[in-house]
Amino acid sequence: MSNSLLILPGDGIGPEVMAEVRKVIDWFGARRGIAFDVSEDLVGGCAYDAHGTPLTDAAMEKAQSVDAVLLGAVGGPKYDKLDFSVKPERGLLRLRKEMDLFSNLRPAVCFDALADFSSLKKEVIGGLDIMIVRELTSGVYFGEPRGVFKEGNERVGINTQRYTEGEIARVARSAFELARARNNKVCSMEKANVMESGILWRDVVQEIHDAEYPDVELSHMYADAGGMQLVRWPKQFDVIVTDNLFGDMLSDVAAMLTGSLGMLPSASLGAPMANGRPKALYEPVHGSAPDIMGTGKANPIACILSFGMALRYSFGKGEEADLLERAIDKVLADGVRTADLMQAGDKTPATTAEMGDAIVAALDAS
Ligand code: NAI
Ligand code: MG
Repeated sequence: MSNSLLILPGDGIGPEVMAEVRKVIDWFGARRGIAFDVSEDLVGGCAYDAHGTPLTDAAMEKAQSVDAVLLGAVGGPKYDKLDFSVKPERGLLRLRKEMDLFSNLRPAVCFDALADFSSLKKEVIGGLDIMIVRELTSGVYFGEPRGVFKEGNERVGINTQRYTEGEIARVARSAFELARARNNKVCSMEKANVMESGILWRDVVQEIHDAEYPDVELSHMYADAGGMQLVRWPKQFDVIVTDNLFGDMLSDVAAMLTGSLGMLPSASLGAPMANGRPKALYEPVHGSAPDIMGTGKANPIACILSFGMALRYSFGKGEEADLLERAIDKVLADGVRTADLMQAGDKTPATTAEMGDAIVAALDAS
């Protein structure tokens, strides 16, 4: 099967970190014989500058036809005053919406070499490897009615939490599938004690489990308690599945258990395509970081790990993804650190390019 990949570097540090991903892609091509059919296009502010829109129809069509899309980041102060309809993030939102990427995967992994770096105790986060699956296309961020309305002589702000059975079922399936490829354990989080949508969420997740995934261990937890448990003892979890709002918050909390924004990848998956692979968009969690753009300070690891997720979830190359993660751990253990991973007393930081080169060298040595 061919491996088609659309790269959208975007704005700010996006192109800088993507240049390092290119080195890794080239390495897998040259040394492991995994050929990628790579194309590149514009998204965000740079697309607006060139075409007057943050994502052209041609780029959108391309995204729909490839096996995976890898995006850097979008946005920057230059575009802050643009009309909302052409803002850089609209390019990203269009991709997510038109590809119907309902399942957002956010891993929280503690690299051994960084176990001392977290603000949490080493025994709490050492060896941590969990995955939060967040429903991404429905729930309170999208439900109708919504808006700020006049009611009597005051204003009222309204959002509606709404989930259909089908929306819950498809994200539950994606979590159970993932669990089967990992440690066969899912914890579903909602607030069934106070929310009707939470009652439905719990019921549907349980039903899908009983009918299709009885081999997977399933537990349920209220999302607020889940937040506490994530910080108290995160290693009790493996896959967590939750709705859009709770997932937004819980994944940010989980992410920070392990260290820097420069280390966090993500995947957003949709329905399977004709070739059986899911529609997929991979991107680092961080933004375009205009404050460090052009300084060589950007950590490329989040974007490289996002490509690693593409290897695993789009291209069926789990072993290669493991290899890449081990190479990154090795480089960090050797003391190669970008500025965001430095602690008091550390020597001079590695630049973006030096980090990319070190990872390729570690791959070579593996
Ligand atoms: P940000 O994630 O760009 O930066 C937050 C802080 O983390 C900054 O101090 C930055 O220097 C640092 N940082 C981020 N990525 C880093 C990396 N790889 N290596 C080292 N340090 C890193 O978030 P911020 O500052 O709120 O937003 C900046 C721009 O990015 C805005 O225009 C915002 O709209 C956009 N943005 C885009 C996102 C996306 O494309 N998915 C997500 C978040 C923000
Ligand atoms: Mg968030």
